[in-house]
Amino acid sequence: MRAVDIIIKKRDHQRLTEAEIDYFIQGYAAGEIPDYQAAAWAMAVLLNGMDAEETTHLIMAMARSGEILDLSQVVPLAVDKHSTGGVGDKTTLVVEPVVAACGLPVGKMSGRGLGFTGGTLDKMESIPGFRTNLEIDEFMAQLKDVGLVLAGQSKALAPADGKLYALRDVTGTVQSIPLIASSIMSKKIAAGAQAILLDVKVGLGAFMQTMEDARQLAELMVAVAGKAGRRAVALLSDMNQPLGEAVGNALEVKEAIDTLHGGGPADFREHCTVVAAHLLALGQVANNPGHGRQLVEQALSDDSAWEKFRQLVTAQGGDVSTVDDPSRLPAASLVEPLPSPHAGWIAQVHARLVGEAAVVLGAGRARLEDPIDHGVGILVHTKVGDHVEKGQPLFTIHAASQEKLDEARRSLLDTLLFSDEPVDPLPLFYGEISEA
Ligand code: URA
Repeated sequence: MRAVDIIIKKRDHQRLTEAEIDYFIQGYAAGEIPDYQAAAWAMAVLLNGMDAEETTHLIMAMARSGEILDLSQVVPLAVDKHSTGGVGDKTTLVVEPVVAACGLPVGKMSGRGLGFTGGTLDKMESIPGFRTNLEIDEFMAQLKDVGLVLAGQSKALAPADGKLYALRDVTGTVQSIPLIASSIMSKKIAAGAQAILLDVKVGLGAFMQTMEDARQLAELMVAVAGKAGRRAVALLSDMNQPLGEAVGNALEVKEAIDTLHGGGPADFREHCTVVAAHLLALGQVANNPGHGRQLVEQALSDDSAWEKFRQLVTAQGGDVSTVDDPSRLPAASLVEPLPSPHAGWIAQVHARLVGEAAVVLGAGRARLEDPIDHGVGILVHTKVGDHVEKGQPLFTIHAASQEKLDEARRSLLDTLLFSDEPVDPLPLFYGEISEA
């Protein structure tokens, strides 16, 4: 087989066989197929698609590119959650400690920022010393001892996704159902959790812009989880406007810390509560999501979730004094509010444009080798449906230079639509998908 023939086949709208997909993925993971061929292949997949069978082969090939953990060796049942990617989506930082504090072990494999969306690994690395490149024995030991572990793809775990993920981020090949499904589900299968909650985002700041695409992605991932012997539920959630207020790595860690202390923005707190409640029900610690909600509220009010977060930070080498005193986390040198140019109701806060403004500030990458500036970002003070007065702060920009600050100021005003009439707020969730 030759990589170029597989690229040409997909370019010419043909189906790839299981053997061809496996050859390409294992060859790329092993470094035998170069980035330029993988980028061409990813673009062909993005443009011409894959059917459900090809996508399932792709998921399994990517999972098999490294080890597939058997977590039952260390805990009776472990769960995981994964978001398809959004702006201001720091849900994992709250949900996973909450769930672990309720006695349900969480073995999580996360990703980095992708396109205009943020990534959990980048956020957690705002905490000085925090390590995400864990060896398998560290992952297993921490799951047993702490009941919570958060790692990235490594040479041992889902290495094909580790490489493809970074490549897709900078080659315009993120927005593809087969590539997203394979990226997420290969990580979930490799990391071994037996029950998985998928937070499938839909809207202007999601990779799935329509409900139809979001449903298709959710149904595909839930079905593949079933075939791989895992239980999964998908929630369809809104990503038209940023979730919570903070967009940018350390700013999002601070917001997650506030939420773990029982505060945080109302929409973000409610989103985390629903996701954690479903995860507790899926992991059979709660009888149903309603019971799960009671457990979540308890874990947030008695500080047990916060204590679990501290244990996570400590176990992975993070400087816990910086989360105890978040003013010690990385911060931008320039902080400036952006006042509203006029009064009115907010009809749109375009999540993708806000995410792109954060990337330009330095919170994300434009090229593989770009470093992240953990301190920069944006606080979004307004939600669709709010009424604002002229001069009221709409955003606060955290920038590393005057030039970047000026650029963000210009682009952030374009993210908003004002209305002279009252506007309904957006829902947080649109539905739930479980195995048929
Ligand atoms: N999250 C992932 O892990 N991969 C994607 O492709 C999108 C979101």
